[in-house]
Amino acid sequence: MTRHFLRDDDLSPVEQDEVLTLAEQMVADRFGHRPLTGPQTVAVIFDKTSTRTRISFAVGIAELGGVPLIIDAQTSQLGRGEPIADTARVLDRQVGAIVWRTSGQTRIEQMAGASRVPVINALTDEFHPCQILADLLTVRQHKGSTAGLKLAYLGDGANNMSHSYLLGGATAGMQVVVASPAEYQPDPAVLAKAVEIAGATGGSVAWTDDAAAAVAGADVIATDTWVSMGQEAEASLREAPFVPYAVTEQLMTKAKPDAIVLHCLPAYRGKEIDAAVIDGPQSVVWDEAENRLHAQKALLSWLLARNFGS
Ligand code: CP
Ligand code: NVA
Repeated sequence: MTRHFLRDDDLSPVEQDEVLTLAEQMVADRFGHRPLTGPQTVAVIFDKTSTRTRISFAVGIAELGGVPLIIDAQTSQLGRGEPIADTARVLDRQVGAIVWRTSGQTRIEQMAGASRVPVINALTDEFHPCQILADLLTVRQHKGSTAGLKLAYLGDGANNMSHSYLLGGATAGMQVVVASPAEYQPDPAVLAKAVEIAGATGGSVAWTDDAAAAVAGADVIATDTWVSMGQEAEASLREAPFVPYAVTEQLMTKAKPDAIVLHCLPAYRGKEIDAAVIDGPQSVVWDEAENRLHAQKALLSWLLARNFGS
């Protein structure tokens, strides 16, 4: 069975820890891991725009000894409606792995269903699991571990980051609280799955509409844009309900004094986060952005070792 990484709970708690431990080794010895030397090519396909994901996968695949093949879907037949499964069948005879940023989760499930090589979710509307691996690595670097720490995510509870914090944070044994307007709550099925995972890891998950309660005593504060890619037409509607969930200097006073602040970026200062917070001493967003590189290198190495013994 080919192993894929389509959502955060595709890695068990033990496996997530293995990937993050490998990522820490890659931080310590950045150019000492070259499992793709051969070289193997990895396709990285974008249906949506990207800065961090594109750069970190391209650099990371090269650092592992492989060749990144970056594809803008709009310039491929996939973008003109060629069936996803046919694309998978063409790719899996030539590349070692497929990384894809797309819209609906069912699209990446179709790709994985037809691919004999690992498929990695580089963001869908529902999940952003590579980002959460980088975020957990950042928490480990700044806090020493993840288990038992309280992570408060504020903003759009129904988006990809919220869902991935719930699943990935629960897998890491964290106490995850999502604070959002009631009309932007997490998908109940994702929340239920996160509750189940937390039951096994000693973590916990919860949703609230009370931003101050979520932040109270938190070790990690996280937020994201209120207008995700594909929601641009709703931008004017997606402001007023979210204002109480902005990560402001005032709200930060309720967190632990040594709390760290995460944002997957791109950030909108003065909207979901104050400039004084994201550019302030508690922000670790640049470490977080760099950690996309290390976490994804570890993930690719881990997946390929399981699929090909490489
Ligand atoms: N955080 C993140 O995925 O950034 P990009 O959209 O720039 O890839
Ligand atoms: N929720 C955001 C994340 C961007 C990295 C989006 O999907 O646009």
